[in-house]
Amino acid sequence: MKIMHVDASAKRERSNSRALSRYFLERLREERVDLEVDYLDVTVDTPPHVSEAFAIATYTPAQERTAAMKATLASSDALCRRLLAADALVFAMPMYNWSMPSAFKAFIDSVTRTGVTYVNSDDGRVVGQLVRQKVLFITSRGADLRAGSPYESMDALTPALKAAFGFLGVAEPTFVDAQPLQFANPEARAEALERARAELAGVAANWASRAKRIAHASVATTVDTHHEAVTLCQE
Ligand SMILES: Cc1cc2nc3c(=O)[nH]c(=O)nc-3n(C[C@H](O)[C@H](O)[C@H](O)COP(=O)(O)O)c2cc1C
Repeated sequence: MKIMHVDASAKRERSNSRALSRYFLERLREERVDLEVDYLDVTVDTPPHVSEAFAIATYTPAQERTAAMKATLASSDALCRRLLAADALVFAMPMYNWSMPSAFKAFIDSVTRTGVTYVNSDDGRVVGQLVRQKVLFITSRGADLRAGSPYESMDALTPALKAAFGFLGVAEPTFVDAQPLQFANPEARAEALERARAELAGVAANWASRAKRIAHASVATTVDTHHEAVTLCQE
């Protein structure tokens, strides 16, 4: 399974979202999933903010783009290729001021590309191209925004991620939200991390059994094809 793993916390060793995304990949390996990981830390390799040149180039039809426009779009093209090549996407990030870290927003701005990650069909529909990828969002939050909490209505992160990736074709992303991790007592924080790890172990088991089913189906197809070829040769 080819996974694109993206971290977005400004913190490093002390980051909960980074620790949880590592934990998830470890669980997948423990489930004996054959992993190929394409790692991106958007706080280190931050995609550029949208510039005027980008805004013009991205909506210019591909065949009409100048060399300068192509150069402007080159890093975004490369990022889109990485996204499209993955079988699964794991995005880990903290909540900052009720939404996503700006480095992750820059990532979204870079990979939302007309004619690349979404296409406009002849009948006027927008067709997202990330339809085959499994997608997991791991978010860490200082407050508790679960249903019933006073902060519930402040969650601008979940809808923003659903909208941005839904537009690109991601129909059913999985969310594991670790909360409350900061504005709570130590027991509540420890419980929140434990809950998140248990959820991640469940998602890893689910992805692993799907990966095994797909691998099994492709081996069966290969064996069938081989059997047919042998039978044809014998006839
Ligand atoms: C600049 C900044 C803004 C934050 N804004 C929020 C917020 O709006 N809501 C919230 O619940 N937590 C907020 N937090 C807390 C973090 O989401 C929380 O500590 C999270 O666990 C950090 O994840 P990390 O350990 O991976 O960096 C904020 C933290 C920082 C540094």
